[in-house]
Amino acid sequence: MKGLILAGGTGTRLLPLTAVLTKQLLPVYDRPMIFYPLNTLVKAGIKDILIIVSPDYSGSYLNLLGSMLRPFGINISFVVQNEPRGLPEAFILGEKFLDGEPGALILGDNIFEDDFTEAITSFSSGGRIFAREVPDPERYGVVEFDQATGKVLSIEEKPATPKSKFAIPGMYIFDGRAPEIARSLTPSKRGELEIVDMHHAYLAKGELDVRVINGGYFDAGTPDALLEASNYVKAHDFRSRFHPDIEKAIADFNSEFKRLVSLKVK
Ligand code: TTP
Repeated sequence: MKGLILAGGTGTRLLPLTAVLTKQLLPVYDRPMIFYPLNTLVKAGIKDILIIVSPDYSGSYLNLLGSMLRPFGINISFVVQNEPRGLPEAFILGEKFLDGEPGALILGDNIFEDDFTEAITSFSSGGRIFAREVPDPERYGVVEFDQATGKVLSIEEKPATPKSKFAIPGMYIFDGRAPEIARSLTPSKRGELEIVDMHHAYLAKGELDVRVINGGYFDAGTPDALLEASNYVKAHDFRSRFHPDIEKAIADFNSEFKRLVSLKVK
């Protein structure tokens, strides 16, 4: 299984913060946001990760993550998305990287407390999405599913009368057919490829299942959610939930950074 992190987009809901820095490099408590989705993939055992970035910030990502994790056997690659053409484009831009293998796509602004190891190691084919119970499902993509088998029955985007209380968070696993399916989609009225259309494509084949998650979950795309995520991360000692390799990589990066700063001062 390979991993994809979508870290482009426009971040308009966070302006003016995102006028000076891309959303996924903004701080969530004590580290840039991108480390949270990165940690989710690494903790689940994924070692090959493609980060999809916007052109303006590719240099910042490369400086931060270009070599930090290599000593730990975690390979990070980058691809530039020139315009935000929608989430499924990750599978089109990542086609060569995936090379026919399944991919787990995580949104760069989604912060999960849950561990996805089982969901990833048990995946064989088709599509797998996740379901998180929320008090206000009408604000989300909502999934209805068979509790016994995990088979998805229906998916609706922001329904007035939701068929379940389960929202679909920003982590999706698709098999090697995903790039081809993504290429066959047509943009929606807002001019983007829609991830829900990927779901529907696998659902139509009867090959979409769902796993319930129940830990802390934040889509940190608004000022309130960004603050809530920071507060939650601090209160729940998220640092201890980071993979030891990422912790060590950050510590080594910080030491090297301080060493270079001290050389400049001299
Ligand atoms: P969104 O939060 O839906 O979009 P956005 O980040 O552009 O923000 P806003 O709505 O405030 O303008 O995107 C979810 C995640 O996916 C986020 O991490 C950005 C990323 N993304 C891309 O990398 N490329 C894309 O084409 C899109 C649509 C999103």
